[in-house]
Amino acid sequence: MSFAVKLMNWYCEKGRDLPWRATHDAYIIWLSEIILQQTRVEQGMPYFHRFVEAFPIVTKFAEADEEDILRLWQGLGYYSRARNMHKAAKMVVSDFQGMFPTAYEEAIRLPGVGEYTAAAIASFSANEPRAVVDGNVYRVLARYFGVKEPINSIQGKKTFAEIAHDMLDKRNPGIYNQAIMDFGALQCKPKNPLCADCIFRVECVAFQERRVDVLPVKLKG
Ligand code: ADE
Repeated sequence: MSFAVKLMNWYCEKGRDLPWRATHDAYIIWLSEIILQQTRVEQGMPYFHRFVEAFPIVTKFAEADEEDILRLWQGLGYYSRARNMHKAAKMVVSDFQGMFPTAYEEAIRLPGVGEYTAAAIASFSANEPRAVVDGNVYRVLARYFGVKEPINSIQGKKTFAEIAHDMLDKRNPGIYNQAIMDFGALQCKPKNPLCADCIFRVECVAFQERRVDVLPVKLKG
């Protein structure tokens, strides 16, 4: 069985039921992903619900007073994220007729939307075959393949982006992307990963070579 199929089977059984996974609405997915940048799922959850309730569609978000957005944002920090969201919502109205873009190349033009967020939007909302590469993905791939290149070096980023795209399930990119993020968050954790009952014990280079605790490599500074 392929890496992707084993991973998705694991996800069916052990993955989290998170509210933003029940939708293909690119606007709702974008909301959740921006809130979850630098914020833990448990902390971000109540904010996600409040934002969806206050601004159920992107046009409402665009029309809102920035003060109201910032008030709802209180406690999350990095207020530039909230300001960029307002700019992005206005741009969806002005440049995309109020229809939140699902395509990677369009979504990435929005303020505050980088490669990770554009891949999340495109794969979760439209099943576009774009691999998400976040901290969870770096960790899972670095350990599975025993990659020693630093995840924050220019060459390392290229290497991981290539591996991530190769491993992506091209038929189910949305499910695969959710699966690898959950696998990193729940099983292949930064500290005390659950190697003893891991589905990849045999194939995982880091586990076989006792290097789980030193991967992924990250350069300081
Ligand atoms: N963190 C950021 N995006 C996430 C997602 N879609 N699911 C779980 N955790 C996340």
